[in-house]
Formats: sequence, structure tokens, C-alpha cells
Amino acid sequence: MQGDELESTKHIGAFLDSKCIGVLSLFLAKTERLPDSSQYQLRGMAVHPEHQGMNIGKKLILYSVKELQKMNTEVVWCNAREIAVGFYKKINFEVISNQFEIPDVGPHYLMFKKLI
Ligand SMILES: CC(C)(COP(=O)(O)OP(=O)(O)OC[C@H]1O[C@@H](n2cnc3c(N)ncnc32)[C@H](O)[C@@H]1OP(=O)(O)O)[C@@H](O)C(=O)NCCC(=O)NCCS
Repeated sequence: MQGDELESTKHIGAFLDSKCIGVLSLFLAKTERLPDSSQYQLRGMAVHPEHQGMNIGKKLILYSVKELQKMNTEVVWCNAREIAVGFYKKINFEVISNQFEIPDVGPHYLMFKKLI
């Protein structure tokens, strides 16, 4: 993704026997829908299909939240696929938008979680 190699971008992985089975990336990016000055965008959240439903996604996010808090980030947000909204709600993200379409990907909602 654009910005992958910026120093401010963080890529976090879950590993099993040295194999990466889950990923997410954190980009220093703002949405004007939130007032906070210090924001990170969560992108590329995925767990390998064979390892889904084992709390790996949840652990990746909770680890990321701790890292972002250490950096005094106020809020993390994402464009959540409709099918993943329930997952983000479980980890206390809130929906802040109506449904919108991302071309070739499908329906999404803007979601966020306060960190401070
Ligand atoms: C969405 C995804 C990242 C979730 O990762 P995961 O490791 O399977 O999820 P976890 O096991 O950590 O789930 C944590 C909790 O969320 C729930 N959950 C997981 N996926 C869910 C979903 N799609 N809808 C509703 N709840 C969901 C789990 O049941 C679990 O609940 P619990 O704490 O009560 O047991 C994973 O399914 C995935 O990679 N999907 C395909 C890619 C994708 O859609 N990514 C999101 C793009 S925005």
C-alpha cells in the first residue's frame, strides 16, 4: 500500500512456528470525521483462513492498541468491510459513518476506537 515504507508506518504480524498467519498495518493518517489531532489508520487486517476464529485478530489489535498508546495516539480508525463490522465491535470499535462503497471491494463503514 502507499506509505508502506514510511518510518511512521507500523506492520504487525502474528507468527506460528516462524510462519506469518496474521497481519495488520498502522498508517499515520487522519479522517476529518474525527476531531482528534493524533490519529492512526488500521489497514490490511487479515488472518489466514486456517487460523481464523482463534482470537488472533483480536490479539493483533490489542497489541497494536498498546503500541499506539505508547506513542500517545488518541484514536485508531479503519474502513471496515461490512462483514468485519461485528469483529471490530467485539473489540470496542464504534461505527461513525453510514455505509459507503469502496469500488471492487464492497460495502464499508468508518469505525474508530478511542485510545486515551
Ligand atoms: C476479520 C478477521 C480479521 C477476524 O480475525 P479472527 O482472528 O478470525 O478473529 P478473532 O478470532 O480474533 O475474533 C475475535 C472476536 O470477534 C468475533 N468475530 C470474528 N470475526 C467476526 C465477524 N466477521 N463478525 C462478527 N464477529 C466476528 C469472534 O467470534 C470473537 O468473538 P469472542 O471474543 O466473543 O470469541 C478475519 O476473519 C479475516 O482475516 N477475515 C478476512 C479479511 C477481512 O475481512 N479483514 C477485515 C477487513 S476490514
